[in-house]
Amino acid sequence: MRTSVALPALIAAGAIAGQPPESSLATRDLASEIWDEIKNAATCAGCQVILAALKGVADLGTTLLVDTLTEVCKISGAEDDDVCEGIISREGPVLQYILTQLSLGSETSDVLCTSAFGLCSYPPVRNYTLTFPSPKPDNLSRPSSSGKSPIQVVHFSDTHVDLSYETGSNWNCTKPICCRSYESSDAPGNTTTPCGPYGNTKCDAPLSLEQSMFDSIKAMEPAPAFSIYTGDVVAHDIWLVDEDEVLTNLNATYSLMTEVGKVFAAIGNHDSAPVNDLPTTQVPSDYNSNWTYQALAQNFTTLTGDSSVLSVADQYGSYSSVFTGSYGTDLKVISYNSIFYYVDNFYAFLDPMPYDPDGQLAWLIDELQASETAGQRVWLIAHVPTGTSDHFHDYSHYFDQIVQRYDATIAALFFGHTHTDQFQLSYSDYTNQNAETASEVGYIMPSLTPTSGPPAYRVYDIDPVTFGVLDFTVYIANISDPTYQNSPTWAKYYSAKETYGSLLSPPVTDPAAELTPAFWHNVTAIFETDDDAFQGYYARQTRGYDVSNCTDATCKNQTICGIRAADAQYNCVVPKIGFNFAKRDGTDQAHVKPQKEKCDDAGLVSLLGKMIANGKN
Ligand SMILES: *[C@@H]1O[C@H](CO)[C@@H](O)[C@H](O)[C@H]1NC(C)=O
Ligand SMILES: *[C@@H]1O[C@H](CO)[C@@H](O)[C@H](O)[C@H]1NC(C)=O
Ligand SMILES: *[C@@H]1O[C@H](CO)[C@@H](O)[C@H](O)[C@H]1NC(C)=O
Ligand SMILES: *[C@@H]1O[C@H](CO)[C@@H](O)[C@H](O)[C@H]1NC(C)=O
Ligand SMILES: *[C@@H]1O[C@H](CO)[C@@H](O)[C@H](O)[C@H]1NC(C)=O
Ligand SMILES: *[C@@H]1O[C@H](CO)[C@@H](O)[C@H](O)[C@H]1NC(C)=O
Ligand SMILES: *[C@@H]1O[C@H](CO)[C@@H](O)[C@H](O)[C@H]1NC(C)=O
Ligand SMILES: *[C@@H]1O[C@H](CO)[C@@H](O)[C@H](O)[C@H]1NC(C)=O
Ligand SMILES: *[C@@H]1O[C@H](CO)[C@@H](O)[C@H](O)[C@H]1NC(C)=O
Ligand SMILES: *[C@@H]1O[C@H](CO)[C@@H](O)[C@H](O)[C@H]1NC(C)=O
Ligand SMILES: *[C@@H]1O[C@H](CO)[C@@H](O)[C@H](O)[C@H]1NC(C)=O
Repeated sequence: MRTSVALPALIAAGAIAGQPPESSLATRDLASEIWDEIKNAATCAGCQVILAALKGVADLGTTLLVDTLTEVCKISGAEDDDVCEGIISREGPVLQYILTQLSLGSETSDVLCTSAFGLCSYPPVRNYTLTFPSPKPDNLSRPSSSGKSPIQVVHFSDTHVDLSYETGSNWNCTKPICCRSYESSDAPGNTTTPCGPYGNTKCDAPLSLEQSMFDSIKAMEPAPAFSIYTGDVVAHDIWLVDEDEVLTNLNATYSLMTEVGKVFAAIGNHDSAPVNDLPTTQVPSDYNSNWTYQALAQNFTTLTGDSSVLSVADQYGSYSSVFTGSYGTDLKVISYNSIFYYVDNFYAFLDPMPYDPDGQLAWLIDELQASETAGQRVWLIAHVPTGTSDHFHDYSHYFDQIVQRYDATIAALFFGHTHTDQFQLSYSDYTNQNAETASEVGYIMPSLTPTSGPPAYRVYDIDPVTFGVLDFTVYIANISDPTYQNSPTWAKYYSAKETYGSLLSPPVTDPAAELTPAFWHNVTAIFETDDDAFQGYYARQTRGYDVSNCTDATCKNQTICGIRAADAQYNCVVPKIGFNFAKRDGTDQAHVKPQKEKCDDAGLVSLLGKMIANGKN
């Protein structure tokens, strides 16, 4: 067994000197050294050893880091060789930049060890006090329902359309997504496990499925006032995706989306290349995301029909736009870039991490203050929910301060990303959670892509004066139904008020009653005492598909705790090796266990976690 300093010492002593760094011998030596470090690391200190080794290689250049890490990936068996090569060649340069500026033992390195490797526990949130232009007014509170006839708003998310989806190709492949002819044996006619024309749970959505959903929305009576889309246009072929593919995907989905009318959309972690990695302007790199921000700016402008969106989206994908109500009150929809706060964004691991990347939090405060002053209501829409295990704790807590300050102005928040049907709650006091301290609801949308259950969209009933949520109904196309591949049928799955309202005391069944934070807190209290109600919620996360067992107290406790944690530090997720990726085979569904999990096969951060986990098996 090597000592923990073996690799840096090996490099420093020039043990591999005389060999050009790219030589396969040097690469193989380094790779097997690092693989040994990985197999030996079991603690937070062990993680620092791995980082030291990787940093030692990174300091010698990108090519050596990419080659070495690719070799480690192949040894570990974490993914097929071509997937290892594709992911690491794309994200390797970003990792190289991050490692060269990283101080070992720093808070950033601890956060990396937590998020990527699951080897450290979360460091405490760094205190940072945001400044608000005015103190919270004590005469403002969430307005009561108007009783006016509601408007309908549609929500869809995580479309992940795969333009290379091939009907008849093999769905039973070893890659993160199937239904493509990777090998001639996968081609239509050559496989005994062919994909149907409208999708498969092992594959991202074909365009035909997205068209089918939009057709169903277009047929709605009455027509929706507008729609919201919480991001992730691009497919999960993350080892292949490049700028061209992202732009082709954005154009295909956003062109089709114009059919459903006005849409407020948000940027997802898949809507750039390499996947997840959106740098702030602080990163002195040749790589920048302006090309995707510019495309999104155009697309968001088309979809909102609001020309003011163009200039703002040009900054970092965020904008606000006002929907004019029919009763003298307006709604401002603020779409922000949550990828700055996403742990799989390697560019976020700056040392030290900025408190407010590119000033987006300050921008949010300005936008919310202006709305408070103008008497507007606000919806916040974004891709990554603030309470998930893959949202940085620090940014979640800072964001939560903003939510608490403007809780009378914010009607609700809307997210995607987890692919599952969930919600999250904010509290004015997380250590004293009850109906009175519950302050905001975040609605988390299941996906169109069928990788974690039937494709879905939601229709919200919205108070046309307060823009509060009165109810929502989920529609699904049941991909497990034998007739589905003839032509998907979109049918009502359940309504929130019908399902939960009658369980409360007093019951909440009045169509005009808002689903307030107190309502949803009380629903979680029912989950604690009524196991049928809890199991119903748990199964609906995946629309009844492949439901995992959540009968023991720990799973229930974690699920409920996760809901009550819009401030992520309270979500009860304990990092452990492999916690940051889904096991694709077996019963353990990372999307739903614990309550909020990250997207499967999300990129290099997840891949590193998988390599570590395989080193432990
Ligand atoms: C942050 O502030 C709180 C209360 O002001 C304090 O209890 C806590 O120790 C501080 N945390 C750190 C990491 O400084
Ligand atoms: C709340 O108080 C402020 C300052 O006293 C006042 O300007 C504002 O009009 C009041 N707002 C409401 C809704 O009463
Ligand atoms: C899928 O492929 C695996 C081997 O890769 C095989 O064991 C399994 O039987 C296949 N499933 C079906 C339904 O053909
Ligand atoms: C099917 O497999 C055969 C034999 O390997 C190959 O020649 C053929 O090109 C494959 N078909 C397609 C469509 O790739
Ligand atoms: C964008 O998509 C539309 C509709 O599918 C298509 O007609 C057009 O050629 C595409 N443009 C680009 C630049 O790909
Ligand atoms: C989306 O942006 C792309 C790239 O700028 C552009 O070619 C396309 O026309 C836009 N589509 C819509 C619907 O705005
Ligand atoms: C990207 O766009 C921002 C805002 O428009 C600009 O300040 C920056 O210089 C651009 N970066 C590059 C490398 O073009
Ligand atoms: C979907 O269809 C399958 C197979 O017919 C059935 O078992 C399941 O209950 C259906 N799911 C829903 C939500 O209706
Ligand atoms: C929530 O429960 C409390 C009692 O625990 C009750 O006073 C309140 O009316 C309930 N609110 C809603 C909206 O269900
Ligand atoms: C679920 O797990 C519990 C223990 O964690 C076990 O007792 C129970 O039998 C399992 N139920 C099913 C249906 O697998
Ligand atoms: C979960 O368990 C913790 C520790 O035992 C406890 O403090 C907390 O109240 C539990 N939460 C729920 C929702 O059951």
